[in-house]
Amino acid sequence: ISKKPRGRGAFIVLEGLDRSGKTTQSQALVEGLRKHDVPTEFIRFPDRNPENPLSKAISDYLSSKTELDAMTAHLLFAAQRTEMRSSMEALLAAGTTLVVDRYSYSGIAYSMAKGLDKQWCSNVEAYLPKPDLVVYMEITPDQAALRGGFGEERYETRLFQEKVYQAYQAIKEDNWKVAAATENPAEIAKGLLESALQILDQCQALPLSRQYH
Ligand code: TMP
Repeated sequence: ISKKPRGRGAFIVLEGLDRSGKTTQSQALVEGLRKHDVPTEFIRFPDRNPENPLSKAISDYLSSKTELDAMTAHLLFAAQRTEMRSSMEALLAAGTTLVVDRYSYSGIAYSMAKGLDKQWCSNVEAYLPKPDLVVYMEITPDQAALRGGFGEERYETRLFQEKVYQAYQAIKEDNWKVAAATENPAEIAKGLLESALQILDQCQALPLSRQYH
């Protein structure tokens, strides 16, 4: 079977509030791309593998087993992305497309929601690879609340989600693809797959760039 030779993979990120449907849509996108013979891997931040010390520290923090200063917590989430950087770059260079559930923008939005400065938060992310496509699953905290009660984790309160929503509005970039999270999931998936295939074509010839540098 002859396949069209490919250049590098596309780096695709899904962002949004808790309960915006990011995880469902990321997984649908992985399946859709694979059906189009695009080698694709799914990554999520934070990673929760209990065998990994950074992941464990993050899980303990999110379940309130530990307390951390807001800046330290920000650095911890960013440290995990930094740790993953070389393997992500290697996969992309080898032609694998990455569908990533949360990335730097979650780091920045959730830390801004605690009152940290946008510039300080972004600086920490500056040298990480920049996604080719960011999809923002737009949902208001009111709509998200209608999807059922919150879980037990640190940020799953109405008041905090409201602040995260405001922070996302403040950091949203013009080239983000905004998907109305309340639309029919199959329709959203179709739109995301189209955008992903399009970006995959476009990014082949372009080097990966850095976040804010
Ligand atoms: P999850 O629910 O998608 O697994 O994410 C866990 C929580 O961690 C979620 O409330 C968002 C938050 N978070 C940060 O505060 N900083 C980050 O850098 C990331 C990736 C997630």
